[in-house]
Amino acid sequence: MARYFPGKNLSVISPPSIPTRRALQHSILDLFSFRLCDSTAKADLERRAQHLARLSTQPVYILREILQYLKQQRIVVPIYTFLQDMVGRVVSAERRRVSNLLSDALTTEISQQLDALLCADESMYRVSILKHEPKDFSYKELRQESERRQFFAPLHEFARQFLETTGISIPVSEFIYFSKEKQVTRQYIIVHHDKLEFPICLFRIKDNDYSALWMKCTHQGSELNASGDHLYCSSHGSEFDSKGKAIHGPAEKNLRSFPITVQGDKIIIELTKG
Ligand code: FES
Repeated sequence: MARYFPGKNLSVISPPSIPTRRALQHSILDLFSFRLCDSTAKADLERRAQHLARLSTQPVYILREILQYLKQQRIVVPIYTFLQDMVGRVVSAERRRVSNLLSDALTTEISQQLDALLCADESMYRVSILKHEPKDFSYKELRQESERRQFFAPLHEFARQFLETTGISIPVSEFIYFSKEKQVTRQYIIVHHDKLEFPICLFRIKDNDYSALWMKCTHQGSELNASGDHLYCSSHGSEFDSKGKAIHGPAEKNLRSFPITVQGDKIIIELTKG
């Protein structure tokens, strides 16, 4: 107070009331084009944190990205405990999600093989063999390399299949192509996956808004065709819009859709919850 009111009798100057202070804070925020982190912004922040947790469950990484986002969007940083609780929540949820997926997928045999990796063998953990590189092309080194491959092959195959079931990842750049040196944006991409009987049509509704639809007609199960911003069935003429809504019969039910998350430059289609 002495700094702003030099030479004044401070005892007769009272600080402004809480409503006045709030009004002043809002005016200052308006002047600098900032806004408060209200409940809508907090819900949006939590969604972003969930996406980030899929890339890395390192709390520091999530916190840094969130702070960067708040800065870009000119949103006032909420109190530290809110951020701390939110990051803790999304990290735990992501760990639970991956653990559940793993426990569904792990067979007894694979579990035993994973446990074996942590067994010490001649003072070295078996998992350390992964880092071992053959020194030369001698018979002994090649034989060891071949044994190593045989040991890890089932685990590698399990990991490959497991990663496939956790979701399909499509680069956002897949929607862009060049025609006569001009950049053109595709309306949809057809995605094929070994585990699915029918392909998925990934529609781009607008920036960061996509829908992933199973191309199986809900009338009698024929495979659909994509054209422009809709899907149609050549068997009996049903049509569906880019959100999967049945807009022309005989099909009455909407299409099955898969949840999507956009993580940076990747679109993840979650097969497990579809
Ligand atoms: S199976 Fe598609 S309209 Fe009949």
